[in-house]
Amino acid sequence: MVKKILTTNKGAPVANDQSSITTGKKSSYALLQDTYLVEKLAHFDRERIPERVVHAKGAGAHGYFEVTHDLSEYTRAKFLSEVGKKTDVFVRMSTVGGERGSADSVRDPRGFAVKFYTEEGNYDLVGNNTPIFFIRDAIKFPDFIHTQKRHPTSNLSDANMVWDFFSLTPESLHQLTFLFTDRGTPRDFRHMHGFSSHAYMWYNENEEYVWVKYHFLTKQGIKNFTDEDSVKMAGENPDYATEDLYNSIENGNYPEWNVFVQIMTNEEAKNYKFDPFDVTKVWYHSDYPLIPLGKLVLNKNPNNYFNEVEQSAFAPSNFVPGIGPSPDKLLQGRLFAYEDTQRWRLGANHHQIPINQTKNQVSTYQMDGPMNVNKGSHYPNYYPNSLEGPKPEACFKAPTIDVQAVIDRHTQQVEDVDFEQVGEFYRRVLNKEDKSHLISNILNSISGVNENIQYRQVALFYKADIEYGTRIANGLNLNINKVEKLASMTQEDRIKSTLS
Ligand code: HEM
Repeated sequence: MVKKILTTNKGAPVANDQSSITTGKKSSYALLQDTYLVEKLAHFDRERIPERVVHAKGAGAHGYFEVTHDLSEYTRAKFLSEVGKKTDVFVRMSTVGGERGSADSVRDPRGFAVKFYTEEGNYDLVGNNTPIFFIRDAIKFPDFIHTQKRHPTSNLSDANMVWDFFSLTPESLHQLTFLFTDRGTPRDFRHMHGFSSHAYMWYNENEEYVWVKYHFLTKQGIKNFTDEDSVKMAGENPDYATEDLYNSIENGNYPEWNVFVQIMTNEEAKNYKFDPFDVTKVWYHSDYPLIPLGKLVLNKNPNNYFNEVEQSAFAPSNFVPGIGPSPDKLLQGRLFAYEDTQRWRLGANHHQIPINQTKNQVSTYQMDGPMNVNKGSHYPNYYPNSLEGPKPEACFKAPTIDVQAVIDRHTQQVEDVDFEQVGEFYRRVLNKEDKSHLISNILNSISGVNENIQYRQVALFYKADIEYGTRIANGLNLNINKVEKLASMTQEDRIKSTLS
């Protein structure tokens, strides 16, 4: 075996790594000329990068996506062009609200981010394990996240902040109902689904387009913790999901997801029974059945967690020809936020970090910046040029969208339709046991909250489904007549009646 010699980070051999250069054997002074000590401490001082502002705790793995069904009539994306085609992927799964060292099993949505290394560049699908979201306008996101993190004074999580915001944001009801079922505490990352949640555009070479939503259905089956077990696991093994994913892959037990899409034409979108780009709602499977597309397999653990998982950068703005955004107001904000945070978190050249690099050739006139490791000359570094520099290619043009617009900060009123899917979810999707877990999970969280907030929130549960609201009201010893009255009001009046 070749003998490995320890070196400095510039490659010079090191003679002694256990003793600093000092003036004596015992108590003594260290010397600045010990450049090896200085290098070692200075590098250590800089080992941490800022954690992600959300989704800070996560695990990742490599694998592949394989097309099993031909949907190439809808999209020109090359990686979807034929059955059997395989594309390398990197996937990161995460919790949302906690810090980098927080427990995996807590009640929270789980991130489900997939980077496809296609021959036309990287395509990122940055989804969650829930098909819906709490809000539908990006401008509310920072406030929403503040309520999920620590109180700025006590530095503790704070149920009053959480329920105050939810009760003032009724469009959150669908996602929060999902979150307080046992699906809000998935057992690990393998036994949960993944969803794009948003609709995206697929377009073909004729510039014909449709809207799609992606569903990654776990082949392992769904497994959740009860509230009690999730709390117990947070204490016993806060890294349970991370460990489970790592060990399964290490043992050759590769997790898989079957990938489906729902497809809606633009004509149908104009006439659907509700706004199909509203991310607080699902498209009914009876209207838009799941169409099989492919499978996702994770079969290789990262070699270096920091390099591959911590430095990975997923952004909903990373599209390839054939796929684009939809007029979903939440998605529109996300198209900005991810690359922006990554320019700060990892630097302007984060796309050059190996885990984020494309597998195809990058030809751009962008240059320099911190940590630039581009090899070769940048010349020519301007366009247009009379040299043989890279040129845009018009055939990659995305479809033209015709928009008739009134520009304003449009207030989106809460309507009865916003409560329909919540009621149906409670009545039709949840069985008796799911319902009783949902009620007790909500009661565990909301019982210590100020009474005015409880009334405002319980009126929303009641509005979605009378039994749902009544059970929570009873659990909190609230006056059901008052709840009923609040439920019949407009949101504006309800807020006025429950100010304190
Ligand atoms: C306007 C709404 C949203 C904003 C502004 C937002 C912003 C962010 C930011 C700044 C990050 C950190 C990224 C990084 O440091 O690399 C992040 C991570 C993430 N977000 Fe969002 N987010 C929003 C909504 C959503 C929604 C609706 C989903 C799912 C459908 C989602 C899924 C994720 C996931 C999975 C990650 C972690 C990606 C990774 O593993 O690195 N986010 N988000």
